[in-house]
Amino acid sequence: MPKKKLVVLTGAGISAESGLKTFRDAGGLWEGHNVYEVASPEGWYANPELVLEFYNQRRKQLLEVEPNPAHHALVELEDFFEVVIVTQNVDDLHERAGSQNIIHLHGELKKVRSTVYENLVYELPGWELKLGDNCEKGHQLRPHIVWFGESVPLIEDAALHCSDADLLAVIGTSMQVYPAAGLIHYASVQAPKFYIDPQAEPLHSVQNLRCIKQNASSGVPELVQYLKRDFL
Ligand code: OAD
Repeated sequence: MPKKKLVVLTGAGISAESGLKTFRDAGGLWEGHNVYEVASPEGWYANPELVLEFYNQRRKQLLEVEPNPAHHALVELEDFFEVVIVTQNVDDLHERAGSQNIIHLHGELKKVRSTVYENLVYELPGWELKLGDNCEKGHQLRPHIVWFGESVPLIEDAALHCSDADLLAVIGTSMQVYPAAGLIHYASVQAPKFYIDPQAEPLHSVQNLRCIKQNASSGVPELVQYLKRDFL
């Protein structure tokens, strides 16, 4: 029997208990920073040093955190389901936990790319990217992050996976940012869907959705047991 396909959409909430701030919760990143100053092309042109510093701090913080039980529980599912993780997160905690198939919709903190040749993407060896750090063709490097106003190159891949999913789980996202928030609509009406978030509420016109108002570190391991028991 082929394995059922489970697509997991994750957001900042899955990494919150690892010690990374979310964006829109009280005390979140967008409370302390102007999103357009640090996460838009206009912000980059106006003040690249501020943008570099913002992402340098995020990258430095990655060295101090570890995957939590929610990231680990998702890895366990790979023995039983074909799992595709579609994450809005730019951290590498799914990778470090050991998940195999991960789509980073909004880019990756540990990568940088040329401001001119966008296919020149590099893994940054340390945490700090500075003005004057150039690509092999001599152009300034920028964070490999999808900023507001930029297109999301991996959205079509992600939508195809969702339309193909037998089961779908949404974990730790406010579902406020499009196009990521629209991905759930690609899943079939029949596919059972689960939304784990302390603030989970039914989503407009999404059927077969069960809201699980829990933190990820307890809610995800429980969901894993439930999926293994009732959906194999
Ligand atoms: P948000 O900050 O918008 O939402 C975080 C969600 O995590 C909220 O719904 C919280 O209730 C939930 N949450 C908090 N603690 C949790 C926990 N312990 N367990 C589970 N859930 C918890 O973050 P995202 O939805 O990920 O984009 O934001 C989407 C995008 O907006 C980000 O990728 C980022 C941001 O602007 C870019 O920077 C391009």
